[in-house]
Amino acid sequence: MTVGKNIPHDSAVTHVSGESIFIDDRAFLKNEVVCGLMGAPIAHGRLKNIDISKALEVPGVLGIYTHKDLASNRWGAIVKEQPILVDDIISYESEPVCVIAAESYKAIEKAKQLIQIEVEEIEPILSLQEAIDREDFLSDEKKIARGNVEESFSNAEHTLEGFFENGGQEHFYLESHACAAIPLENNQIEVHSSSQHPSETQHVVAQSLGLSYHQVVCVVKRMGGGFGGKESQAAPFASLVGLCAKKLKRPARLIISKDDDMKITGKRHPFKNFWKVAFDKEGKILGYRIRLFSNGGAYTDLSESILERAMLHSDGCYYIPNVEILGRVCKTNIHSNTAFRGFGGPQGNATIESVIEEIAHFLKKDSLEIREKNIYQGDKLTTPYGQIVDNNTLPELMEKIKESSNYLKRREEIEEFNKNSATHVKGLALTGTKFGIAFTARFLNQANALVNLHLDGTVQVSTGATEMGQGVNTKIQQIAANAFGIDASLVQVMPTSTEKNHNTSPTAASSGSDLNGMATLIACNKIKQRLASVFNTLQKGEISPADEIEINSVEELDHIVFENSKVRDTKTSKEIDFKELISTAYFNRVSMGDYAFYKTPGLGFDKAKGKGQAFNYYTNGLAVSEVLIDRFTGETKVLRADVLMDLGRSINPGIDMGQVSGAFIQGMGWVTSENLTYSDKGVLLSHSPTTYKIPSIQDTPREFNIDLIENNTNDVCVHRSKAVGEPPFLLGNSVWNAVKDALYFVNPSNASKLKLPATCEEIVTLLDE
Ligand code: MTE
Ligand code: HPA
Ligand code: MOS
Repeated sequence: MTVGKNIPHDSAVTHVSGESIFIDDRAFLKNEVVCGLMGAPIAHGRLKNIDISKALEVPGVLGIYTHKDLASNRWGAIVKEQPILVDDIISYESEPVCVIAAESYKAIEKAKQLIQIEVEEIEPILSLQEAIDREDFLSDEKKIARGNVEESFSNAEHTLEGFFENGGQEHFYLESHACAAIPLENNQIEVHSSSQHPSETQHVVAQSLGLSYHQVVCVVKRMGGGFGGKESQAAPFASLVGLCAKKLKRPARLIISKDDDMKITGKRHPFKNFWKVAFDKEGKILGYRIRLFSNGGAYTDLSESILERAMLHSDGCYYIPNVEILGRVCKTNIHSNTAFRGFGGPQGNATIESVIEEIAHFLKKDSLEIREKNIYQGDKLTTPYGQIVDNNTLPELMEKIKESSNYLKRREEIEEFNKNSATHVKGLALTGTKFGIAFTARFLNQANALVNLHLDGTVQVSTGATEMGQGVNTKIQQIAANAFGIDASLVQVMPTSTEKNHNTSPTAASSGSDLNGMATLIACNKIKQRLASVFNTLQKGEISPADEIEINSVEELDHIVFENSKVRDTKTSKEIDFKELISTAYFNRVSMGDYAFYKTPGLGFDKAKGKGQAFNYYTNGLAVSEVLIDRFTGETKVLRADVLMDLGRSINPGIDMGQVSGAFIQGMGWVTSENLTYSDKGVLLSHSPTTYKIPSIQDTPREFNIDLIENNTNDVCVHRSKAVGEPPFLLGNSVWNAVKDALYFVNPSNASKLKLPATCEEIVTLLDE
C-alpha cells in the first residue's frame, strides 16, 4: 500500500536545491518582453484622462495599454463587475490603470514616472463601520435560522451581548502573482500562470482578449503558495500579460513585486459581528444571534461565498438549539478582499469561541467547562442549517486532548503563576474546528482526471488540481501508484493544463485531493479493468494474432489484484509482471489511457432557505494553547500548543502533519501579529515584510504537539481520508482565546474589548487602561 505512507513531497528535493521552476524562473524566450503595472493614485475617484505620450518615448518601452485595448474589460468570480484596467471609476488605491510592456524593467520604471493620470476625487468609504452606517453593501442580507431566538433570550437565565471584530490578513505567499504569455499561430495563446484556477484564468484571458476558449491554454506547473489569494485574482493579471503578448506578437511576462502585490490584491475579509447569546447557569447555550458584516473591499470577488461559509461556521463546534445568523458584505474603497485559507470559516468560528470566553467569565467558570457542555454530542444532532453532524469525532477529540494536554493541572498552575507574578500573566484556552468539506457552490464539486500508462510501466497523471505546496500532486501520485500496485516513483503527476483537463474547479475548499484524487482513482480503475481482462485472456493460453480481447465486467475480475508490480489472480495463483502485461495489452490494441469524471454525491444546500446538506463531511480538530504575556510590553509568547485532529485515514500523514502545523501557525499569525494598516486616504501602509509581521520561527510555540486520531469511518472520501488544508487554520484561534483568558485575570473590564489581531500594542493598551 502506497496510500497511507510518508513518501516525500514531489518537489521536496528541487525546492531545497533551487531547481524547482516558478514562473519567473522560466528561461526567457526569444524576443520575450517584460511587463509592469501602473496603479491608481487615489482610493476613490473618476479617471478623467491617461496621458501616455511621454512615457511611450522612453527607450525600450514597446507599448502601454489601457482598458481601451481590451475586447472586454469586466471579470468577476461571482459577479462580472470588476474592471481589468480602470475605465471610469477608481475604486481603490493602486488599482491597475495601465500595463506597460518593455525591453527592460528599468524602462518600465521610467515610463511609470512619465504617465500622467488625471483624476477627480470622490470621498472614499474606508472603514467597515462607515460602510455599515451608510448601508454601502455588495450583497443582500443572507439568513440561516432555527428555533426561536427571541424566545430563548426572554426565557433564559442570562443573556450577554457585544460585538467581535477581526482584521484582514495578507496571504504572504513567497511567490507573488506571476504569469507569462506566448502568442501562437492563428491567434492562439499559451498562458503560464501562478493560479489556483487555470480554467477561470483561461476563460478570463479569452474573454478579455476577444478570443474563444479553445484558442487559450492555461498551464500551471506550481505556485510558490496560494492560500486562496490565487483562486480568483490570478486571472486578471494573466489577461494583462496576454494583452501585451497579443499586441506585440512577442512572448511576455508579468511578475508583480511584493509591494505591488500587497497593494493590489485582496486579503482575508475583516468582519464586524454583532452578537447576543442566551445561556443557563451551567453555561448551556440556549440561543445565539449573530449579525455578520464583512469588508468585501471594492468588488464582490468571492465575498458572498466567503460570507456564507462564515455563517455556516458560526456555530463552531457547538450545538445551539435556537439560532439566527444574518450576514451582509460591505463595500469599501480598499483592494477587493478574497479567498484566504478557511474562506470565512475562521471569522465565524472566532466569534463563537470569543463569546464562550465571555460566558465563562460571566459565570466564573473555566471556558473548557462551557465548551464541554455545548460541543456536538452523538451522531444525530443537526447544525443550524439542518445538516446532521454524523460520524462525529468531536467528543472523542475533547476527551483525548483534555488528557494529553494536561489541561486541568495546567489551569491550576497558571492560576498560581498569575497570582504570584508581578511581571507576567499567563492564559490558557482550548478551541475547536469543525470544518465543512465541499464547495458551498454545488457545481464546483466536480473534477476530471487523465491517466496514461506508458510501455515501460510508468504512469502520467493529469488533473485540474494545482500544486501550491500543499502536496496534492504527491497524494494523487500515491493514489495512482496504489491503484496499479506499483512504486510511487513510477507515477508522475504532470503540470496542470486546460488542454488536458477542462472546466475544472479551483484547487480550493481543501478539496483538491478529495475531488481530483477520486477522479484519478476512477480513471485508474477503468484502465485496470482492461488490463485485468487481458490477463484473464492470457491465462486461457496464447493470444492468437487474430484475437480481440474481450473486456470483462468488474465483477468478473474481482479476483485479480494489482500488487508489488505484479498482477495476480487470487483464484489461480497465476501472476504476471505489471510491465509485461502492459506490453501484451499494447500489442493487442487495448487502450492504456483513460479519462474519468467525479462529482461529490449528495450535496444540496438551498441558499435561499439557508438549509440543507452544505458539506460532504466535517474535518474536526481541537487545540489547547498557553500564552505568556509581558505585563509591561504586551509581548506574547506561545509557550505550548497541543493540536489533535481527525483526518480520517490520511493518504500521507507526513504531508498532513505539515499542513496542520503550517495552518496553525498561519492562523496564529492572523490572531496575533499580522496587522494591516491604512492611511486616512486608504493607502495600505503595511505593504512589505518590514511593516507586516508574519510569524517567524521565534514566534512558533516553544512546545508544539500535533497528533492525529484513528478514524476509519469516512467512507464518503477517497480511501477514507479527510481534507486537511484549511481546517487547522481555525485552531490558531486558541492562541487568541488564551490571550483573552489572560486579560480577564489582569483587567476583566477590558478583556471583552480585545480585537483580533491581539497585537502587542492592542494587549498592552488593554492591560493598561
Ligand atoms: N499549503 C501550502 N503549502 N500552500 C498553500 O498555498 N493553501 C491552502 C491549503 N494548504 C496552501 C496550503 C488552502 S487555502 C487550500 S484551500 C488548500 O491548501 C488547497 O489545496 P488542497 O485542496 O489540495 O488541500
Ligand atoms: N471554498 C473555497 N473556495 C471557494 C468556495 C468554497 O466554499 N466556493 C467558491 N470558491
Ligand atoms: Mo483555499 S481559501 O479554499 O484556496
